[in-house]
Amino acid sequence: MKNWLKHKYALSEEGAKDMIKACISVTCTNIVLMMSSGILYMLIKDLLDRNLTSDRIWIYAVASVGVILLIAVTNFIQYNATFLSTYRESGRRRTTLAETLRKLPLSFFGKKNLTDLTTNIMGDCAQIETASSHWIPELIGAVISTSLVGISLFFFFDWRMVLASFWVIPVAFIIIITCSGAEKRAVRKNSAIKLDMADGIQECLESIRDLRANSAEGRYMDKLEGKIRTVEKEALYTELKMAVYVNSAAIILKIGIGTTALVGGALFASGSIDILTFFMFLMLVARLYDPMQITLQNFAAIIACGIQCERLDEVLSHDVQTGSTNMANKGYDIEFDHVGFKYSDDTDVLKDVSFTAKQGEVTALIGPSGGGKTTISRLAARFWDVTEGKIRLGGVDVSSIDPETLLMNYSIVFQDVTLFNNTVMENIRIGKKGATDEEVMAAARMANCDEFVNLLPDKYNTPIGENGSELSGGERQRISIARAFLKDAPIILLDEATASLDAENETAIQEALSKLIKNKTVLIIAHRMRTIANADHIVVLKDGVVAEEGRPSELSQTDSIYSRMTKQQMISQNWAM
Ligand SMILES: Nc1ncnc2c1ncn2[C@@H]1O[C@H](COP(=O)(O)OP(=O)(O)OP(=O)(O)O)[C@@H](O)[C@H]1O
Ligand SMILES: [Mg+2]
Repeated sequence: MKNWLKHKYALSEEGAKDMIKACISVTCTNIVLMMSSGILYMLIKDLLDRNLTSDRIWIYAVASVGVILLIAVTNFIQYNATFLSTYRESGRRRTTLAETLRKLPLSFFGKKNLTDLTTNIMGDCAQIETASSHWIPELIGAVISTSLVGISLFFFFDWRMVLASFWVIPVAFIIIITCSGAEKRAVRKNSAIKLDMADGIQECLESIRDLRANSAEGRYMDKLEGKIRTVEKEALYTELKMAVYVNSAAIILKIGIGTTALVGGALFASGSIDILTFFMFLMLVARLYDPMQITLQNFAAIIACGIQCERLDEVLSHDVQTGSTNMANKGYDIEFDHVGFKYSDDTDVLKDVSFTAKQGEVTALIGPSGGGKTTISRLAARFWDVTEGKIRLGGVDVSSIDPETLLMNYSIVFQDVTLFNNTVMENIRIGKKGATDEEVMAAARMANCDEFVNLLPDKYNTPIGENGSELSGGERQRISIARAFLKDAPIILLDEATASLDAENETAIQEALSKLIKNKTVLIIAHRMRTIANADHIVVLKDGVVAEEGRPSELSQTDSIYSRMTKQQMISQNWAM
């Protein structure tokens, strides 16, 4: 039961245990509540039988007080077992989700978009929170306690009356279960189009600048409005469907009052039951059906909630990247050994790529756009795992090393710089946890940040806006280079690190980089040939394969892609002059 609950409702071990406790406590509360009807029944029976002695009055009084106390105790336990533990579980679920997301390979994020994941963390968790705190324990508790009451009435009173009043309950449940497939389909469709709409809104906000620049705002807005209308239409349709399912089940429940009265009347008339039993069953159906109707609504909501649980379970049970936290590498050579890679199932992005980026050397990756250069640098840092072959760092397969441990050895400057909505100081400090302000500023000076930072209103303490929106492309890139200087790791990956810098800044940073890269493994990707003029080793990538490899001096002597690229760039530079 515990394991079933764990998977079905994306619960932790602790959460599943709490859920079982909650179900038991709701069952107890329901049974205790029904005990009050039992006392009332016995009291009336004694009255009718003229059997109500003062001793028995005392017993009833004590029993009533006992029931009240029991109700207070079971309510307290129920509160503890449902609400408090639910919120503890919610906290645990969100933390586990965040922890799992941290360890998932980037390939997972390629399949999911940001809106989908935020919906997962916030929306789905909130929905499951309500389900676990209210719906599930109440449903299970109601089913168990009603069954227990039904069974005891069946054996101790009249089985015909039990059938007449209880038959509607399983029928109502069967209606909801029969409709559950259609309900799930409707909810799945509904959440897909809601996600599409949320995605559209987010994309619109993020790309407003490009939309305006291309005068495409109007067209985009029309498309977005279409999506919003679809969500509205579909939500109404889903609500209508749900109302039909739940109300059909509720109507069946109401028929139960009729059958109880009819069968009870007939049995009473034939003398098979006494008036008190008839009265008790009428009182029972009046008490039972209203909460049962709420239980049925909860049941329908729990079925719908299954979609959210499936989505969460998909994230939580995804394979995470693991590995040893003890690095046993000898040196920092990065060796690509017959590496093949695809982002999705269809196209090969890299095919049989073999080369070694040696420690103490600068290895430059060049080649036409889309050739797979960035992919190679991502694989070297285990952002993705290779599809074929091996990548070794100092002789150790990178896929056997824990990603966080591995990344401690890399300083990376990405092609697409990501900055945080924080100050310049904190944005650079990301490079090294706990670095002092002086260390940050020294790194910033090496990356030529000093000059523009000193012009900012609060210098290093100036916030730079969302993703550094208040900075120029070159300034953003220099902050990213400063991070790499600060981290000062043994391996340096530079992907178009100086692409948005002017010639003067590039030369200054090249000089600083040349100090940084001493005795390190450097993999540099660049389109500008002059950026890699001093590289020790050139690897030319074209259509995912190594087309050429060698020292710049060797490659420039033959009719190689490298020498053609160098010549072409010299011609275009002359044109620019
Ligand atoms: N996240 C991704 N998911 C799917 N395909 C991708 C992804 N990133 C890159 N690709 C594809 O992989 C191929 C290689 O891309 P990559 O970014 O490695 O090229 P590149 O050589 O760095 O190009 P550029 O010089 O333009 O930066 C391209 O065809 C690209 O479309
Ligand atoms: Mg690239």
